[in-house]
Amino acid sequence: MEVHNVDLTISAVAESQYPKTDYPEIALVGRSNVGKSSLTNVLINRRNFAHTSSQPGKTQTLNFYNVEDQLYFVDVPGYGYAKVSKKERERFGQMIEQYLTQREQLRGVIQLVDARHVPTADDVSMYEWLAYYNIPTLVVGTKSDKVKSNVWNRQESQIRKRLGMSADASLILFSAVNKRGKDQVWQWIEKQTGM
Ligand code: GTP
Ligand code: MG
Repeated sequence: MEVHNVDLTISAVAESQYPKTDYPEIALVGRSNVGKSSLTNVLINRRNFAHTSSQPGKTQTLNFYNVEDQLYFVDVPGYGYAKVSKKERERFGQMIEQYLTQREQLRGVIQLVDARHVPTADDVSMYEWLAYYNIPTLVVGTKSDKVKSNVWNRQESQIRKRLGMSADASLILFSAVNKRGKDQVWQWIEKQTGM
């Protein structure tokens, strides 16, 4: 999809603020700093519309981006960020869990992992949790521009193995720098949302 019009409809901290529309929604989850906001920007052809930061913990609300009045991208606060207080983490956790398990408009989740490394224990828990709730999931390995092309295959199999992905589960290597994988990610989104 070629995107021209986007707006940030709401940075929500509570369910009552979620959009009342029935547009399909695609959520992005992953560790802090893995590149969720950067992926959002590439998908919508903007430079820094979703604010990115080299400091983890930048996104702290559920941000609903209205794309062409056709769907929402929902940028979710990153997990595994030590500096927010335990109370705050629990509050995020509940909000995210409730959103992911109860939101009728949700059509799928893009889970981001760092393509340079083996997925963390938090990544594995998240993937298993999404599978348990039967939420259609696309795994995206980010920052692939920092991985030499001769080890892409190795990194891919490592990610698949550690997350316990089945052979037919989708994994795409992506880079916000050179936009590798952008079209494939869009294809998956279009399939999930019936666009
Ligand atoms: P939180 O909002 O804190 O959860 O982080 P986030 O997952 O939204 O990460 P964000 O998009 O803000 O990116 C974090 C840092 O990684 C920034 O400095 C980005 O420029 C960098 N980054 C993101 N994606 C890529 C990529 O594909 N390649 C490279 N080289 N850097 C990236
Ligand atoms: Mg972010």
